[in-house]
Amino acid sequence: MTQEDHVTQGPLTTEAGAPVADNQNSETAGVGGPVLVQDQLLLEKLAHFNRERIPERVVHARGAGAYGTFTVTADVTRYTRAKFLSEIGKETEVFLRFSTVAGNLGAADAVRDPRGFAVKFYTEEGNYDLVGNNTPVFFIRDAIKFPDFIHTQKRDPYTGSQEADNVFDFWGLSPESTHQVTWLFGDRGIPASYRHMDGFGSHTFQWNNEAGEAFWVKYHFKTDQGIKNLTAEEAEILAGKDPDSHQRDLREAIERGEFPSWTVYVQVMPAAEAATYRFNPFDLTKVWPHADYPLIEFGKLELNRNPENIFAEVEQSIFSPAHFVPGIGPSPDKMLQGRLFAYGDAHRYRVGINADHLPVNRPHATEARTHSRDGFLYDGRHKGAKNYEPNSFGGPFQTDRPLWQPTTVTGVTGETVTPVHAEDNDFVQAGNLYRLMSEDEKERLVKNLANAISGVTRDDIADRAINNFRQADEDFGKRLEAAVQALRG
Ligand code: HEM
Repeated sequence: MTQEDHVTQGPLTTEAGAPVADNQNSETAGVGGPVLVQDQLLLEKLAHFNRERIPERVVHARGAGAYGTFTVTADVTRYTRAKFLSEIGKETEVFLRFSTVAGNLGAADAVRDPRGFAVKFYTEEGNYDLVGNNTPVFFIRDAIKFPDFIHTQKRDPYTGSQEADNVFDFWGLSPESTHQVTWLFGDRGIPASYRHMDGFGSHTFQWNNEAGEAFWVKYHFKTDQGIKNLTAEEAEILAGKDPDSHQRDLREAIERGEFPSWTVYVQVMPAAEAATYRFNPFDLTKVWPHADYPLIEFGKLELNRNPENIFAEVEQSIFSPAHFVPGIGPSPDKMLQGRLFAYGDAHRYRVGINADHLPVNRPHATEARTHSRDGFLYDGRHKGAKNYEPNSFGGPFQTDRPLWQPTTVTGVTGETVTPVHAEDNDFVQAGNLYRLMSEDEKERLVKNLANAISGVTRDDIADRAINNFRQADEDFGKRLEAAVQALRG
């Protein structure tokens, strides 16, 4: 029902559809007397109002979304048998939710924080979700550290605020974060809008073709609007003046018919090369330099339709890294493996066991055919069909063809460290990133980091954090130490 239907469809009603006589005055025992329990409209309104919120996302609570189209622009069938990628010109409907990470639902958009870039492809073989960020890497490489990491980014249990002590304590003690932190405090750390930033699948995923060959891939979405960032000073003003700046920018651009788009690329590594590649290809703190694995352009993503109802379509939207389709699968990246569990669990808690069946979440180009049933807010879609399998009454059956190819594993079980390849260490790519920056950019990076580190109250925490950047690049460390000293006195 649209806003227009609401305007034209007659009298106001109760939830049960009965016409409402008076929506201004509650029913009392006599004029000026106490309110009556028989005023069901009043009770229903108050009760419904109390239940308007669902738990906000534990991370990425603040976001905005839009629908659009993904179009294949190059033949990638030698790498994947995914049907939505099977033909040049083929179009697939998408829904994309952008977000910040640490802020709560009502937080400002213009802040230094990674941005979520979660795409749902409504393919004919089921929904494929790519739940990425605007950064190619991440702070940690093992899911077991994620709750601790996020605790340091969110509010301190005692002060109720984000604390520089916690942030830099964790990063200092987790040197694998140095690459992502260098990225975050550089120019791209505060995008000007959701339209003016790139997106990444970040993890390594598997593509597999009709012949059963497997490839490791990384996705890149390059903005056609051009990269635009805010300086720390610009962001501080904008966050105060217009906390909804990113959300408004996206909606208004689409309303004007200026549809934002991204050119989509993939890096492809033949599966056999993974074991000997100079960096561990399943380590999320590392990129694959383009010189090793060039970007192959294969698609265009355009956003062209705003949601009609933010709660129904954005707040209740769910994205899961475990939503794969035939021809695409996971890699052994330990972060990704943890995420394969975390999201479905979050959805069942936050939106409910039938979250997958809401209009924004259900398949649009096929239908879900499962034997799972019932639960809160089940809509009876299966009618009288049998709810078990195998059965002798027809209905959905298994295909015997897994979505992805098996991977070879060796060794014994145990709490193992991510394997280190020939050129891997926690600092090499952070140093390379620093040395790629212009002199001006280096200056801004050092200033941004120094401002943040100067909020740390303990010297040992600040020193340890600075030391990571020194190990990435001697000059970086020296300049940062001097800048922090100047601020801390
Ligand atoms: C093991 C590490 C991680 C865990 C356990 C984790 C967990 C979560 C959880 C529980 C949510 C909320 C989901 C919901 O309520 O709907 C979420 C949201 C999100 N996460 Fe992660 N996350 C991890 C790492 C990452 C990484 C590495 C990325 C990007 C590369 C990422 C991108 C996102 C995005 C974009 C969202 C918002 C999705 C949306 O728009 O609904 N997360 N994460």
